[in-house]
Amino acid sequence: MGELYVPVSIESIQAEFFPDVALFIRSGTKYILYKSHGRNFSSLDAARLMTNNVEFLFVSPADLEVITTFMENNAERVLNDDTLQAKTKGKIIYQTSINFVGDLFEHPEKVSDFTRSKRLVENLLHYLASDKDSFNSLETVMSHNYYTFVHSLQVTALSVLLHSEAYLLSHDEMLDVGIGTLLHDFGKIFVAPEILNKEGKLTAAELEAYRGHPEEGYQYLKKNTRLSDISLGVVRSHHERNNGNGYPQGLKGPAITRSAQVGAICDVYCTLTIDRSCRKALSSSIALQIMKQEMKGSFNERLLDVLEGIVCADNPAQFL
Ligand SMILES: [Fe+2]
Repeated sequence: MGELYVPVSIESIQAEFFPDVALFIRSGTKYILYKSHGRNFSSLDAARLMTNNVEFLFVSPADLEVITTFMENNAERVLNDDTLQAKTKGKIIYQTSINFVGDLFEHPEKVSDFTRSKRLVENLLHYLASDKDSFNSLETVMSHNYYTFVHSLQVTALSVLLHSEAYLLSHDEMLDVGIGTLLHDFGKIFVAPEILNKEGKLTAAELEAYRGHPEEGYQYLKKNTRLSDISLGVVRSHHERNNGNGYPQGLKGPAITRSAQVGAICDVYCTLTIDRSCRKALSSSIALQIMKQEMKGSFNERLLDVLEGIVCADNPAQFL
């Protein structure tokens, strides 16, 4: 895995409170210093970049924490700013997210194959932007927990890839899968932030509260949106396990919808391979090893093999 540079839109860089960090410009797969720490980023710079069709600059992994904090605050500020049009808000969130997703799977040899999935997620977000119910739901998740949103987007991108490798899905079904996966952790808005952000082990009562999120998310979305059964299935069953050891219903094997099975795999894989404050990210091969051995029986084995084909660099998959 390469290093994770975070894309920031030129519009965001011009925003108030943007931190003083070094900014990089992307050239192919390399990042070249554009502005060093301590140097001002002027509106002239912004204009020049925009004239050259540069929409994003990048922040190095060293400044990840400061930029994540800024992006979190900025995204919330953008969403809460009444003077901005819904379209502008959507654009900023969407552009940042799309670029983020694009940078998630840092295997350069797969970038070209990623286009189709990326486009699907774009369509998906278009849908979210145009369908009031779904977008509202997404917005709520975002302002409650930005990290959940980023994780959800990451899981969605991988799930779309895995579906396209494992099954022949219609465009509409792929959209349903994407929407359900984007909102899979929606129910976390019902879990107290102290529990979500707790670093140590959860008590039995806290664990029970946490484990309510799939069912609560499902019930809320079923009642308040027009999401399809496919989408709702992902929300409700993404913590079910192939051997029946999951929750909320303890379903087994084929009783779990296939998109929820895919969602579960992608959720666990993305959780293991992302950097978190409490521990470093695991490599794809270690994550897969854990899922195949330590968690044996938890996941559909064929789907795990498909995942391996997608994420292991020496085994490049052909997408669509
Ligand atoms: Fe979850």
